[in-house]
Amino acid sequence: MTVCLKKAMLLGLFFGGALGIAQASEFEHRVNLIASYKQECSACHTAYLPSMLPAGSWRRIMSGLDRHFGVDASLDPKTVTELTQWLSTHAGTSSRVVQPPAEDRITRSAWFERKHREVSSAVWQRASVRSRAQCAACHLRADQGDYDEDHVRIPR
Ligand code: HEC
Ligand code: HEC
Repeated sequence: MTVCLKKAMLLGLFFGGALGIAQASEFEHRVNLIASYKQECSACHTAYLPSMLPAGSWRRIMSGLDRHFGVDASLDPKTVTELTQWLSTHAGTSSRVVQPPAEDRITRSAWFERKHREVSSAVWQRASVRSRAQCAACHLRADQGDYDEDHVRIPR
């Protein structure tokens, strides 16, 4: 019931706008992730959707891969250029995403905190989850860029 209401409200908000489906337009749930991105950026965590960070955040992340959140995730310059270009082109531009979040972390975005308000700190710390950055622990289709609430399951 709450879910239906929420969707109805979002659709209502956007009804008069140019964009039809609010959530799809916000995060492009089903964007095609290019092969090199999936290969190079999904070894340690989910391959995030480019639309979840603004272009400036992606550029900073891609120019500092040798000291990437405490690990060395360096790539050859050609791949860095290719991925930086692709991420910037598909970066988020909506009002919720355009402001770079703290540490350029998706998980520090206001929208992320709002959407996960009901997830308790005990759940984030479960061995089966480990970190907010491990989207695929709960979003069963995250590897396909699909974060729809219909495919969320919190592991034990
Ligand atoms: C060698 C492992 C490794 C590789 C490869 C890697 N990362 Fe990461 N990345 C990490 C770690 C560790 C974190 C911090 C995770 C945490 O806080 O739990 C992280 C965090 C991130 C975050 C922030 C997540 C958040 O909290 O919102 C982004 C964005 C990110 N990585 C993008 C990338 C991109 C783009 C690539 C490919 C160019 C990449 N990563 C490749 C290890 C890696
Ligand atoms: C501990 C499990 C868990 C992890 C890890 C997690 N989420 Fe979620 N996520 C949820 C839950 C629960 C909801 C709320 C679903 C609902 O409203 O029914 C949610 C909602 C969302 C939504 C809104 C979906 C919608 O249809 O409204 C998005 C987008 C999202 N998460 C993205 C992410 C991203 C990106 C990551 C990783 C950086 C992530 N989540 C990590 C559990 C998780």
